[in-house]
Amino acid sequence: MSTQKLIAPSMLAADFANLQQDITLVNESEANWFHLDVMDGVFVPNISFGMPVVKAIAKHAKKPLDVHLMIVDPDRYIQTFADLGADVLTVHAEACNHLHRSLQSIKDADMKAGVALNPHTPISSLTHIISDIDLVCIMSVNPGFGGQSFIEATYEKVRELRSLIEKNNANTLIEIDGGVTNKNASQLVKAGADVLVAGSYVFSATDPTSTIENLSAQVNE
Ligand code: DX5
Ligand code: ZN
Repeated sequence: MSTQKLIAPSMLAADFANLQQDITLVNESEANWFHLDVMDGVFVPNISFGMPVVKAIAKHAKKPLDVHLMIVDPDRYIQTFADLGADVLTVHAEACNHLHRSLQSIKDADMKAGVALNPHTPISSLTHIISDIDLVCIMSVNPGFGGQSFIEATYEKVRELRSLIEKNNANTLIEIDGGVTNKNASQLVKAGADVLVAGSYVFSATDPTSTIENLSAQVNE
């Protein structure tokens, strides 16, 4: 039996004026994780939210917090996000000069260690470090904004990463972030994805709860 595929709604697309309502929605849905996008306006050309908002979400969230740091020099904040209650902490490979050390610090702070790859960053950059990674987040859009279109070259990256994981007998999860909808979800899972992040597809829907339920059913049938 294959393992359960996870759905992680991105709160970047939630209604920030009614955040608690959208947190409750995710709590009561079939979603597995909360995906939280932290952007600094330097690593990516946008600023989203920081510690106070993560803290507020953590207070009400009843599911694991999957925190995606789109910031330069993320080592500065690893302990801070651990203290805020992050369960998975993902840093960008492109933002870390010493990725192995960053991953070690994340694990030392009792979180799962994730690495995100921008669309242009090859899977081969992880060849010698794959066994140290709990989750690889393959960016299927350029990071910085929700609501962008899915980059088709992602499927090939997923297949390549799946084979690297198998070759090394690693336990790494493959997460896809950006432009995920019911149109590409099945193909992504077929290529080897384990976790699907979905922002605008979920929160722009008339019925986000059933959108999450249907997406989960679609990839877990
Ligand atoms: C983009 C973020 C994504 C974003 C996904 O930089 O990392 O998590 O919220 O949003 P959608 O699903 O709308 O592409
Ligand atoms: Zn993200």
